[in-house]
Amino acid sequence: MLPFSDILVERLAAAKHVAVLTGAGISAESGVPTFRDPDGLWQQFRPEELANVEAFLNNPVLVQSWYAHRRAVVEEVLPNPGHHALAELERMVCERGGDFLLATQNVDGLHARAGSERLIELHGTLTRSYCIGCRRPASEDELAAIESGETAMCPSCGGLLRPDVVWFGEMLPEGAMECAAEAAASCNVFLSVGTSAVVYPAAGLPLIARENGAYVAEINPQRSDIASRLSEHVAGKAGEVLPRLLEAVRDYVGT
Ligand code: OAD
Repeated sequence: MLPFSDILVERLAAAKHVAVLTGAGISAESGVPTFRDPDGLWQQFRPEELANVEAFLNNPVLVQSWYAHRRAVVEEVLPNPGHHALAELERMVCERGGDFLLATQNVDGLHARAGSERLIELHGTLTRSYCIGCRRPASEDELAAIESGETAMCPSCGGLLRPDVVWFGEMLPEGAMECAAEAAASCNVFLSVGTSAVVYPAAGLPLIARENGAYVAEINPQRSDIASRLSEHVAGKAGEVLPRLLEAVRDYVGT
């Protein structure tokens, strides 16, 4: 038995415009820890200790080494069938002349590696760093040359190097949320995949879509706090559900 409804398949097959929000859950099957699950990152560290600018200025080595560790984890892993299915969904929608947008809260770069192109990284990316003094992007070689335990500094101005991610209390990249909100407001189907939907403004996107009449499905083994306000909850892992959903849409279109 399929874990999703026929309505979701029919709506997705007919949708002119599809928008998707992903969170850490989609990368769980690649081996990247989520934030709030029992073995998640925030069980080991509190966000206020590591993911804000004060923590960084108080203890740059600690924060830089935590991000260096996370970068090393994502370099070792591969996109999973969930990431690939979303890249495939984008191609399917665009080929039939529709619009597609994937907004991710993830900083792991796995959607881009899977081939997603209409992609907005709402919380930035681990794959880039920059100097807080002169704003110059740091090259991979510069980062790799820093010995563990040393503070990472800009070779040009001596400023601290930080990851190009959004920390608590910081603004999202310019225009990112506006673009994602516009896609949510105008789509016919919205998928909310692998997110606990507790960090705003990203968590508001499925609700914007619902308020504007889209069919909104959540794909997550657990019900999020906003699940009851959406059209459908699909209980399952993204890497299993998304490929089956795509196959069901293809079968439906082919019939
Ligand atoms: P969370 O760790 O809060 O939530 C992960 C969600 O994924 C949970 O609801 C899980 O039930 C679900 N999940 C786990 N395995 C899954 C799987 N295989 N398939 C589908 N779902 C699965 O992560 P986010 O919602 O991404 O922000 O967290 C949002 C933001 O909070 C992050 O971007 C980060 C964090 O603080 C910043 O750092 C700014």
